[in-house]
Amino acid sequence: MKALRALLASPQGLLRASLRASLRASLRASCCPPYRFAVRLRAGALALTASALAAPALAVGDIEAGKALFASRCASCHAVGPMAASGFGPQLNGLATRRAGSLKDFEYSTAMKQSGLVWDDKTLAAFIANPGNTVPGTKMRFWGIGNERKVAELIAYLRTFK
Ligand code: HEC
Repeated sequence: MKALRALLASPQGLLRASLRASLRASLRASCCPPYRFAVRLRAGALALTASALAAPALAVGDIEAGKALFASRCASCHAVGPMAASGFGPQLNGLATRRAGSLKDFEYSTAMKQSGLVWDDKTLAAFIANPGNTVPGTKMRFWGIGNERKVAELIAYLRTFK
């Protein structure tokens, strides 16, 4: 009876409590790090979805399409995400606030270092569409992507890496 009254008084509270209990149960069931990693990944995906929903300009579909494009066209040289390091190309986290050629762990071309560019939607779009025209002498060997929509999808995806 008491529980029933509590439920009537605050159904959300009870719901939250039972959610917490089931989360604890599933954590207890987790034996190995990969599972915990998966939980964190799923939480990250949820956060991503939530922020994407808050900003309609970044449709979830665009980000997904951009992710696929990045994997097929950029990932051979560039990394993004918490483990990203510069390799053949510089890592591409936090581009929105980055000056071109400014990472300490990558040896840029002189052209890139002296380009004076700051990466924002416009400069990124121009560079991705035609690297050689935007930064003459860049050592990024890439033809560029002509399709504007694809470029926008790529940028929407890159923007999710702060
Ligand atoms: C063949 C390897 C390669 C591919 C493929 C490639 N890049 Fe690059 N990228 C580079 C290199 C090398 C640099 C450094 C250029 C320089 O110093 O002139 C670079 C630089 C950049 C920069 C400037 C970063 C900074 O720190 O200033 C951006 C942005 C970038 N690439 C985006 C992309 C995107 C988006 C794609 C996929 C559409 C892509 N790149 C595909 C090799 C590549």
